[in-house]
Amino acid sequence: MSRPADTMRREQAIPPPPPPPPALRVSGLGKRYSEDGPAALSDVTFEVADGELLAIVGPSGCGKTTLLRLLCGLMASSNGAVFFHGRPVARPPREFALVFQDYSRSLFPWLSVIRNVMFPLRGAGLTRAGRRARAEAVLEEMGLHGVARQYPWQLSGGMQQRVALARALVSRPEVLLLDEPFASVDALTRAELQDVLLRVHSDFEHRRVTAVHVTHDIDEAVYLADRVLVLTSAPGRVVGSIDVELPRPRAQTTTRSSPRFLAVRNQIHALIASKEANDDRYPVQT
Ligand SMILES: Nc1ncnc2c1ncn2[C@@H]1O[C@H](COP(=O)(O)OP(=O)(O)OP(=O)(O)O)[C@@H](O)[C@H]1O
Ligand SMILES: [Mg+2]
Repeated sequence: MSRPADTMRREQAIPPPPPPPPALRVSGLGKRYSEDGPAALSDVTFEVADGELLAIVGPSGCGKTTLLRLLCGLMASSNGAVFFHGRPVARPPREFALVFQDYSRSLFPWLSVIRNVMFPLRGAGLTRAGRRARAEAVLEEMGLHGVARQYPWQLSGGMQQRVALARALVSRPEVLLLDEPFASVDALTRAELQDVLLRVHSDFEHRRVTAVHVTHDIDEAVYLADRVLVLTSAPGRVVGSIDVELPRPRAQTTTRSSPRFLAVRNQIHALIASKEANDDRYPVQT
C-alpha cells in the first residue's frame, strides 16, 4: 500500500543526526615554559574522534611530551585550551590514563606486578578483593597472569611495559595517552607490543579506547593509527594530518608491505622534509 505523499515529505525533511562530538578538542594550544623563553608549542589545533587512534609524530624536542602533558591537564597551557567531550581539561580527568616511555621509572619497584596494577584502583570504591580481581583480569588479558607475584625488575623490558599498559588500563580509561611507550625495547618486542596496543585499542573489555600515541617512528605511527598528525620542529606546530585508511585488523607483514602503507609513510616523510615544516615564515596547515 502506498503512503500518503505528506508523510513521505515529512520523513525526507528530517535532518541527519549531527556527528558525535569529538572525544578531545585541542584549540590554539601554545606553551612557553618561561615568560621570556622560547615557545615549546605554538597554536596547535586538532580533534580526536571517539574511539580513534591518533598517532603524533615529530622530531625530537618539537614538543610532543609537552603536548601530552597539556592534553591531560598535568600542566597549564600558555594559550588555548583542551576539551574532553566539550568540557575544558584543567586537571587530569579520571577517564584518562598515561603510559610513558620509561617503564623502569613509572613502575614501583617495591611493589609486585599485581600490586602495581592494583595501585590506580585505590579510592575507586572497590574492596581489596575487588581490586585484586580487576587487576588479575587485566593481567590475564595482557598475557601476564604468570608473573603477578614477581617484581617489575625481575621482568624483561617488554614485559615491564606490558605491566605499565595493564596498570594504565585497569581503571578502564576512555582515553589512553602514550608517550613513546615502545622506544626502549628491541625491535621484535616493539612489534609485539604494537600488536598488543592494537588489540587493546580495538577491544578492551568490549570497548574501543580512544588513544593518542606519540612516537618518533613514522612506520609505527602508520602501522597503528587511524590518522597521523605531523608536528614540526620547535616550536611544535601541526604541519599535516594524514588519514591512514589501512584496513583493520592489521598484521606486521601484510600491512607493512601494502602499497597504501608505503604511500602514507612516504607522504609523512615528505611533509617532515618540506619547506613548510622547516621554515617559520611559511603558514602551516591544520
Ligand atoms: N620542564 C621544562 N622546563 C623548561 N623547558 C622544557 C621543559 N620540558 C620541556 N622543555 C622544552 O620544551 C621543548 C619541547 O620539549 P618536549 O620534551 O615536549 O619535546 P619532545 O618532542 O617530547 O622531545 P623528545 O622527542 O626528545 O621526547 C624543548 O625545547 C624542551 O627543552
Ligand atoms: Mg618527549
